[in-house]
Amino acid sequence: MSDYPAMQARLLADIDSAADLDALEALRVAALGKAGGVSALLKTLGGMSPEERQVEGPRIHALREAVTGAIAGRKAALEAAALEAKLAAERLDMTLPADAAPRGSVHPVSQVMDELAEIFADMGFAVATGPEIEDDWHNFTALNIPETHPARAMHDTFYFPSQMNDADTRSIPGEGRTERRAMLLRTHTSPVQIRTMMSEAPPIRIIAPGRVYRSDSDATHTPMFHQIEGLVIDRGIHMGHLKWTLETFLKAYFERDDIVLRLRPSYFPFTEPSAEVDVGYAQEKGRRIVGGHGDDEGHAWMELLGSGMVHPRVIANCGLDPAEWQGFAFGVGVDRLAMLKYGMDDLRAFFDGDLRWLAHYGFGALSQPTLSGGISA
Ligand code: PHE
Repeated sequence: MSDYPAMQARLLADIDSAADLDALEALRVAALGKAGGVSALLKTLGGMSPEERQVEGPRIHALREAVTGAIAGRKAALEAAALEAKLAAERLDMTLPADAAPRGSVHPVSQVMDELAEIFADMGFAVATGPEIEDDWHNFTALNIPETHPARAMHDTFYFPSQMNDADTRSIPGEGRTERRAMLLRTHTSPVQIRTMMSEAPPIRIIAPGRVYRSDSDATHTPMFHQIEGLVIDRGIHMGHLKWTLETFLKAYFERDDIVLRLRPSYFPFTEPSAEVDVGYAQEKGRRIVGGHGDDEGHAWMELLGSGMVHPRVIANCGLDPAEWQGFAFGVGVDRLAMLKYGMDDLRAFFDGDLRWLAHYGFGALSQPTLSGGISA
């Protein structure tokens, strides 16, 4: 008969002082494993007389229970200690200031769109969007550019291959017939005028920033570029409202008061009358600086945007009564505005993704344009 209490005391002491989970596992194998000491004791039961077994059995089982319990207890304690240590090592002080400058920068196009959204929000304009993959009804027909109109050819449109599927077939509002509509990459943001007038009740005041596509490429043209459309629909709107809005916007954008505009009669199928808007600028050190009067010594005029009074037929195409509702619209190139304000001379660099260019012309990731803080500060 073994001295179980002494053996138990020794095993429990070893278990209690096991330094880590590996040491504990070694003790478990040595006591309870196939060839372990306690397992060997259990095997002796088979060779005992029934009377012996009745005495020894419970004592050996009690020893095994005690060792098993001690190992489980020590294991839980070691695991809890390991978790505590990990939590302590990985503790973060959320009250500390950020210690690294954010990586990356805001692209000038995004910056200018943010600036314009801020400027127009102050004048009560909401931001509207539309799809870049358009159908020719929204991009052309509804804007009073019928199929045979020469303006369609002027737009260098990217068309999708015709697929004759249901997605291309739309019912024509108010006419009760369907028509196959060719899908294309929108050539301007003007289809957002149509989408807005068809989905919202006037009065309407929106700007619509976004990408547009034309098959064209040189130093000042890329196949994809950015426009911002403006649309106001209300009662009693006239060209004075258009001119004031553009003047106010351009003064805020260029952050100077000496912006002088010239409205030149022009033609767009969706506006009548139409005006191209020029801005006075001076040439300084090879750069165009916007401001001043284009007719003054050393100044010249530069075409900046297209605009006009929304054509009554366009208003009617959207289901509104042109006798009640009038409005003005304008479209301006965002990339062009960025180049003028921030002094880049090659539009293609905008879309090269060159990190040196982005580091030089980009804006802080955490700075937000506000009117009160200076729009580009
Ligand atoms: N959509 C025209 C263009 O891309 C610009 C424009 C918009 C003109 C709105 C008048 C009114 O050239």
